[in-house]
Amino acid sequence: MIKQDWMNKGYIDEPIPQGLDLAAEITRLKKEKGALLMAHYYQKGEIQDLADVIGDSLALAQKAVGVKNDIILLAGVHFMGETVKILNPDKKVLIPDFNAGCSLADSCQPDDFAKFIKEHPGHKVVSYVNTSAEIKAMTDVVVTSTNALKIVESFPKDQKLIFGPDRNLGSYINSKTGRDMLLWDGACHVHEQFSLEKIIELKRQFPEAELIAHPECKHQVIVLADFVGSTAALLNHIGKSAAKRFIVATESGILHQMQKSYPDKDLIPAPPVDSTCGCNNCNFMKLNTLEKLYLTLKYEWPEVNVDPEVARKARRPIDEMLRLSKNLDK
Ligand code: 13P
Ligand code: SF4
Repeated sequence: MIKQDWMNKGYIDEPIPQGLDLAAEITRLKKEKGALLMAHYYQKGEIQDLADVIGDSLALAQKAVGVKNDIILLAGVHFMGETVKILNPDKKVLIPDFNAGCSLADSCQPDDFAKFIKEHPGHKVVSYVNTSAEIKAMTDVVVTSTNALKIVESFPKDQKLIFGPDRNLGSYINSKTGRDMLLWDGACHVHEQFSLEKIIELKRQFPEAELIAHPECKHQVIVLADFVGSTAALLNHIGKSAAKRFIVATESGILHQMQKSYPDKDLIPAPPVDSTCGCNNCNFMKLNTLEKLYLTLKYEWPEVNVDPEVARKARRPIDEMLRLSKNLDK
């Protein structure tokens, strides 16, 4: 029975018995209920370590196709849960906290985006996966940071394009492809707050270190970077590069996986403008905790539901992305 108080809060707020081994309980409940735990790289390390599937936005969407489990628990943010639900309409898709939103997805509201599209007839619409199902339903093709460049390049050169909602990723793609896509003016509050001055200072201190950056970062950081790529591409790059030290300009959760995969590399998180805020941690991603994961599996709530008509329309551009992403070089 889901209490009204929990519904108001958006997550289950029940005291956890003292001494309960949460990791063991989550593993037990997953097995008992036949649930699959999927986690994004920006989750806390202890959640990543328990996940059956871990990845960036593209990998999570790809691995959500053809899941056999009846229950999928998505440890990430709301739009990721929606994408999993759209790809698995008959499954129960759970997220640990309804409040785990995304500042970037929120910067693009359906009525405003519909108006923008209407004002620019003749344009195809390319939307970043960090959008609500309603925005995806207005889209021709969805992209993630891993595949955005290649998918944009798959359109004829003279095809007019709208790109939303991330202006930094959009202008990075424009600069790489020579296109002039119309950009929605949205951004991620985590990737936008890295301090150029502090990064330059670090580069001076460690001249041999490579700066690696996510394309959601500001233009000034991207132009300074030795390598630009999605979360998975940054992880792979560390393995391939001969460099021993890296300044990492993206959400700090990925450092867990980077350090685990490449223990001999030295990783320095790029510093935010305000060094006291810890704001290279996404506050939405970090709402998920082992306690909430345990309670979500126990009560099978919060459950993500998408209006079936919206889901049907949003599925097509997601499928198109998956089709175009096959055999993509990371
Ligand atoms: P990727 O997982 O595609 O790198 O996107 C980063 C992000 O901000 C996810 O919310
Ligand atoms: Fe959204 Fe940025 Fe958090 Fe990713 S890191 S979920 S883009 S707010």
